Amino acid sequence: MNIAAQPQLDSDYLDVSDPSFVIHSQEVHDARERNWFARTNYGLAILRYEEMKQLLRHPKLRQGSAAWPRHNGVTEGPFSDWWNHVLLNLEGSDHARLRRLVNPAFSPKMLEKMNPRFQALAEELIDAMSARGHCEFMSEFAEPYAARVICIMLGLPETEWKKIAGWSSTLGLALGVTLKQDLPRIEKALEGLYQYADQLIDDRLRDPGEDFVTRLVLAQRDDDAMSRDELRVMLVLLIFGGMDTTRNQLGLAMESFMQHPEQWELLAERPELSGNAVAEVMRTNPTVTWVTREAVEDFEYQGLSIAKGTTVHLFSQAAGTDPRAMPSPEFNIAEEHPPHFGFGGGAHHCLGHFIAKSDMSIALPLLAKRLCQVRLDGDATWLPRSGNTGPVTMPLAFRVRA
Ligand code: HEM
Repeated sequence: MNIAAQPQLDSDYLDVSDPSFVIHSQEVHDARERNWFARTNYGLAILRYEEMKQLLRHPKLRQGSAAWPRHNGVTEGPFSDWWNHVLLNLEGSDHARLRRLVNPAFSPKMLEKMNPRFQALAEELIDAMSARGHCEFMSEFAEPYAARVICIMLGLPETEWKKIAGWSSTLGLALGVTLKQDLPRIEKALEGLYQYADQLIDDRLRDPGEDFVTRLVLAQRDDDAMSRDELRVMLVLLIFGGMDTTRNQLGLAMESFMQHPEQWELLAERPELSGNAVAEVMRTNPTVTWVTREAVEDFEYQGLSIAKGTTVHLFSQAAGTDPRAMPSPEFNIAEEHPPHFGFGGGAHHCLGHFIAKSDMSIALPLLAKRLCQVRLDGDATWLPRSGNTGPVTMPLAFRVRA
């Protein structure tokens, strides 16, 4: 039975394809108070914590992001091809094999070696902007920090960050509802990233180093664990998947702290709270505002029949602030809450979560230690406020702490 034929299950309707739809909004919280789900123009939205936790691991749901281009009128071409083959959109044995191959490079042990470089990088960027008392936070801190972190991780020259970040953020337009109209730019950026990945693979084959890319290149050559095509698709995903997300999440962190200046002061006084600060930002203000799943067959969940092929969007912030799961859902870095969904969950849980947590929990307390009275110094501009969201520009004014 189709969900539309179930009037007894009262729920709201959310038009999630409307470019002006705001996912972190009262409208969505009101819908959550009405029911654990809402209907959308694509299918369903899951709004409560317990249901999101269960459905992220539900055997009748599989990754649904592959449908995004189709939903936006794009069914073929280089972007579609790449998107259909990225780790995020694979399932079963191919997904498990590729994830197993790249996983060791993301371990906390590997990160320990990189953390001092992340710290030096954050200090360098803060030094460069602090004397002026104002900055454009996204281009002066969030973007170079996120991009250079990925360069450090993948062993790429940090001087190339601008080129890579440019391609990556253009590719990021693909996650917006204007995908179709932006397609020519998106495919050009993808081509740039592919050429860069190809050159990188050839360089490492000729001149192997100690870095992450060398390890993948050698794995691919020695035992054919990963084909060359899979490797270039993976490299483009890692550059893209790590850069924009971290940049946007840092911008959203500043938004959260400006709304809660007392929390900024607390972080400056108690930098040991940085891990929880990152978790709180991601629980209450995640950049990946939903993860998408698709029903592989008809099934019933909590009295609701979900038809095969239904697209299910799981709303991370509505679930992360669900009062049923946490008595005090407000942003509070001194309080521990149940695990957030800012990195998704289940089989596709973010591969880069250790690195993202680590680089953000280095950057945020350093910013708080150096800058105070941080406020907006003009209007910020924004990506659409659903899907993958965050500030495009964020002019800030601040004082430097004595
Ligand atoms: C998956 C968020 C940083 C690589 C995911 C997912 C989310 C996410 C929500 C799951 C999507 C789904 O289930 O549909 C974030 C956020 C980040 C971040 C918010 C930063 C704040 C990174 C970094 C990397 C990375 C630094 C790598 C350099 C990946 C990959 C996947 C993934 C490869 C796919 C995993 C799979 O399908 O098995 N990320 N991510 N991410 N992320 Fe991240």
